[in-house]
Amino acid sequence: MRILSAKSDTVRLSACEVLKKGGLVAIPTETVYGLAADATNSQAVARIYEAKSRPHFNPLIAHCDSLEMALRYGDFSKHALRCAETFWPGPLTIVMPYRSSSDISDLIRAGHQTVAIRIPKGVSAEVIKAYGKPLAAPSANLSGRLSPTTADHVERQLGKRVDLIIDDGACSMGLESTIVSFADDNPVLLRPGALNVELLNECIGQDLQATADNATIMAPGMLASHYAPLGRVRLQADDIRGEDGALNFGYSTLKAEHTLSLSETGDLAEAATNLFSHLAIFDERGVRKIAVAPIPDRGLGKAINDRLRRAAAPRS
Ligand code: TXA
Ligand code: MG
Repeated sequence: MRILSAKSDTVRLSACEVLKKGGLVAIPTETVYGLAADATNSQAVARIYEAKSRPHFNPLIAHCDSLEMALRYGDFSKHALRCAETFWPGPLTIVMPYRSSSDISDLIRAGHQTVAIRIPKGVSAEVIKAYGKPLAAPSANLSGRLSPTTADHVERQLGKRVDLIIDDGACSMGLESTIVSFADDNPVLLRPGALNVELLNECIGQDLQATADNATIMAPGMLASHYAPLGRVRLQADDIRGEDGALNFGYSTLKAEHTLSLSETGDLAEAATNLFSHLAIFDERGVRKIAVAPIPDRGLGKAINDRLRRAAAPRS
C-alpha cells in the first residue's frame, strides 16, 4: 500500500495505473474518502465488496467527472437533470434507471434496475477525468463502521486492503452525500446528507418524502446499525454517567474526562464536518461510552441525527 499527497505531480498517473490493473484507490472527496475501483471492471468492483466486508445486496455509487459522462450511464428525468445541473459537482447522489447499453458492471447495481450517480469535487474528479471512466466508490471504511474523513482513518480501517491512498487532508464537509431517487414518478429521499434537503426541495418544487426506516432495502446506510464508532452512543444526553465521554453542541455543557464539541457556536455545518472525525477521536482514545447532547432536527441537523441514530442502534 502506498500513500500519495494529492498535491504530488504524479498522483493522477499513479491512480490510473492502479485502476487499470483492477486495483483499489482511496480517493478524497468533499464528503468523505471513497474506496474506488474501475466501475466497468467487475473483478475490481468485487474487490471493493471484499475489502469492506460489504454485503453484496448493497449497491455502490458510480462517480463521474462530468454530466456528459453521467448521461452515458443514467436515464435522467427532468427533475433529475435539474438537480444535477444545480448541485453537481457536489454532495448529491441521484438514483435513476440505468442505461442497459452502458458498460457499467452489474455488481455496482447489486441487481437493481437503477444506478446511483454522483459528480464529486476536487482531486477525485481529476482522477476520474484522467481515467476516462466512472469509478465505483463507497465510503472507504469497513462495512458498518465510521466513514473516514482523513487518509489516516482510511489507513487504520483498510490498511493493506487498499493499493493506493490519496491524501488530501480532512474532507471539507465530512458527511456523506444526500441521496435522492428519481427512479419512480415520486422522488424519494433515500439518505439525508451533506446537501441540505431544504435546497433540494426548492429545486424540485416539492417536499421530498423520506423512506420509512424498515422499507425494503433499496437502501443506503439504511441498515439500522451503521456508521458505528467502537463506543456505545447515548443520544439526547443531559448528564454524564460513569465513564462516558461527552460530545457537546452549542450551549450544552456536558463535562467528562474526554469532552469534545461538534460546534461551540451551534453551527450545524461545522457539526456535520466534525461528526465522524470526533467519533473517531473517541475511538482512538478508547472511550467506550459516548453521551451526545441534543442536536436540532433541522437542515443539516437531520443528516447528523440520522447518522447518530444509526450509531446508537443496537448492534447484531
Ligand atoms: O458521499 C458519499 O456518498 C460517499 C463518497 C465516497 O462519494 N459515498 C458513500 O457511498 O457514502 P456508500 O456506499 O457508503 O453509500 C452509498 C449508498 C449505499 O449505502 C447504497 O445503499 C446506496 O448509496 N445506493 C447505491 N446505489 C443505489 C441504488 N441503485 N439504489 C438505491 N440506493 C443505492
Ligand atoms: Mg458508507
